[in-house]
Amino acid sequence: MKGIILAGGTGTRLLPLTAVLIKQLLPVYDRPMIFYPLNTLIQAGIRDILIIVPPEYSGSYLNLLGSMFQKHGVNLTFIVQKRPGGLPEAFILGEDFLDGGSSALILGDNIFEDDFTDAIGSFVSGGRVFAKEVPDPQRYGVVEFDGETGKVISIEEKPQEPKSNFAIPGIYLYDGSAPEIAKNVKPSARGELEIVDMHRAYLDRGELDVRTITGAYFDAGTHDSLLEASVYVRDRDFRSRFHPIVNEAIDEFNIEFKRLVSLKK
Ligand code: TTP
Repeated sequence: MKGIILAGGTGTRLLPLTAVLIKQLLPVYDRPMIFYPLNTLIQAGIRDILIIVPPEYSGSYLNLLGSMFQKHGVNLTFIVQKRPGGLPEAFILGEDFLDGGSSALILGDNIFEDDFTDAIGSFVSGGRVFAKEVPDPQRYGVVEFDGETGKVISIEEKPQEPKSNFAIPGIYLYDGSAPEIAKNVKPSARGELEIVDMHRAYLDRGELDVRTITGAYFDAGTHDSLLEASVYVRDRDFRSRFHPIVNEAIDEFNIEFKRLVSLKK
C-alpha cells in the first residue's frame, strides 16, 4: 500500500499564523506538524509516500524533506496542487503515483497516537475508515456502524443530531478504484470535492468498513487544538515513540544543517 499526505489547504482557522507559514510546517512542540502524519504512515510500514503541496511552499517542503529519508528506504514524491479543491483531489492528482493500487490518505494536520500497522496490513479491498469517540460529534463526519461486523450503517456530515459519538478522523484507506470514484464526485455548495462522498460511494457498494481507534487524536487546525497537541506531545514523550527511521532522519538532518552552518562561519 502507498501513502498520500495532503499538505496544502488554506488554513484560515489558524490566521494570522498561516499568513506567513503553511499550517503543516508550523511547530507541534519540537518538530514541524508534517512529521506526525509522516510518522503514522512510516510506522504502519508504508515506504512510498506522495506529499501534495501548494505552489507557494513547494520549495520549503523540498528543502526540509527532499533528501531526508533517502538513506532510509522511504521514497517521497511531491506533487503540486495549484489550489485547494478538496480532499478527494488527492486521488486525482495521485492517480499515476498510485498506479492502480490501494492507498492510505492522511491529512497533514492530523496527529494520531494509534499505530495503524494492523489496519493497513490487513486491508484487502473496498474502503476502510476509522472511528474515534469524541464528546462533540456535531463538529465531524459521524459514522454509525455495526459493532460486531464493522460494517458502516450510515455516515453524516456535521449532523445536528448525531446517531453516534464516533467521528471519522483524517486517515482513509481505499483500494485502486479511488481515482475513478474521486473523478465522479461532484463539487459541494462550497465548491470543493468532499471526502464524505467518497466514503458514501464505497458504502453504496457495500464495501466500506470501520475500525475504532482509542489513542489520542488531534486535528491541529485550530489554535486550541494546535496548543493541546503540542502539550500532549511534550508530556507523553511522543518523540521517543516515533518510528526510529523518522527520529534518525531528523537527527541526521540537524547534524548536517549544523555542519553547513559552521562551514559558512
Ligand atoms: P482542512 O483543515 O479541512 O482545511 P484547511 O487546511 O484549508 O483549513 P481551514 O478550514 O482552517 O481553512 O483541510 C484538511 C487537511 O487537508 C489540511 O492538512 C489541509 C489539507 N488540504 C489540502 O492539502 N488540499 C485541499 O484541497 C484541502 C481542502 C485540504
